[in-house]
Amino acid sequence: MFLHTCPFFLSNYIKLMALIKYIEHNGTVHEIEVQNGLTVMEGAVQNDIPGIDADCGGGMACATCHVYIKEEWYSKLPDKETGEDDMLDQAYKPNSNSRLSCQLSVTDDLHGLEVHLPEKQI
Ligand code: FES
Repeated sequence: MFLHTCPFFLSNYIKLMALIKYIEHNGTVHEIEVQNGLTVMEGAVQNDIPGIDADCGGGMACATCHVYIKEEWYSKLPDKETGEDDMLDQAYKPNSNSRLSCQLSVTDDLHGLEVHLPEKQI
């Protein structure tokens, strides 16, 4: 059997993942390995996590990917894009912990991230 050991070759097949914990409003926890480079929203949609609708497909135009994230993760999250706060104003019960999950790219730094889902989207 031939085994490739070239790092470049292997890098095309070994996908780096981060564990994301999606926690529904009722407390149900879904622990999902999400590929780096996807967004937290895409990880939810691809794995049929209930509670993230993502009606606009990640265009920051619907606020149906609204999630709550605890402050301890803020330093590892990307800064808010211009307009994210305006869109969050349209979300269901936004607060200071609110983010649009379509704006959160998954990286190794987010391994173990807990994402709390609102009671409903808009
Ligand atoms: S998917 Fe529409 S704002 Fe995030």
